[in-house]
Amino acid sequence: SIVYLNGDWIDASEARISVEDRGFLLSDGVYEVTPAYRGRFFLFDRHLERLRSGLATLRIEMELDGLAEIHDRLLADNELADDEVSYVYLQVTRGVAPRTHAFPKMPVPPTVYAFARPYRRPDRTVWEQGFEAVTVPDRRWARVDVKTIALLPNVLAQQAAVDAGVSDAILVRDGIALEGAHNNFFAVFGRTVVTHPRSNVILPGITREYVIRMARELGFEVDERPIQVEELARANEAFFTGTTTEVRPTVRIDGRPVGSGAVGPVARRLFDAFLERVE
Ligand code: PDD
Repeated sequence: SIVYLNGDWIDASEARISVEDRGFLLSDGVYEVTPAYRGRFFLFDRHLERLRSGLATLRIEMELDGLAEIHDRLLADNELADDEVSYVYLQVTRGVAPRTHAFPKMPVPPTVYAFARPYRRPDRTVWEQGFEAVTVPDRRWARVDVKTIALLPNVLAQQAAVDAGVSDAILVRDGIALEGAHNNFFAVFGRTVVTHPRSNVILPGITREYVIRMARELGFEVDERPIQVEELARANEAFFTGTTTEVRPTVRIDGRPVGSGAVGPVARRLFDAFLERVE
């Protein structure tokens, strides 16, 4: 595949970064994953805004004007513009400098890397069976609202889910179900759709924000409040949202059925509405 690296368009096998890249040595960088539906990026400006905000938090200076073009060209050069769903991964690190914890004294240009990939949505029959999740202690730092490339706790949490033979991890801190390892978490109580409020303890998902807006438009109550793990025993439904998750219904948590143990009408209504709008 053709990737973008610091202004060059090259085959992935030819792409090289320095061993002194601060992303490699220190996880000193941020990333963004933006979906495209049949070649059109979905909520691109929201993803760009989150990237801008992450770069500002890390105090990495970078010109963002060319990014839309880079995204378009990645789809075109990789012949993904006709694919039903694809996505672009973009990573920015502070750049290359001899290793010290503090920023390099002489400013260096950031390292900018991006690639595109097709996304294969699960077949609807599989989706209709629902998915399972396990709860995992949240071991992340105190600013997970910033989309940094330091993802070790997320990696270990997702692996715990894989080891348990399920699709998703629910990260739990102080008895609260915060979000997934790479997606946001929702529970449904009656006609009320509940998800953790925006704060430093969850990643402000672009899909989360969109699903909240859609749910309100469809006439559901939306309550952004912490969800106690204990409450999940009486939830009617649960689901995850995310760029590489879309809307994914959870029918069992830690082996116990959620609600009836089947995919519920709220998740189905939201997923159908989501598909209508991206198509
Ligand atoms: N993950 N929470 C976490 C911890 C995430 O890493 C992500 C995204 C989300 C969902 O955000 P959005 O709806 O904007 O994709 C929530 C990306 C896709 C990833 O790491 O690959």
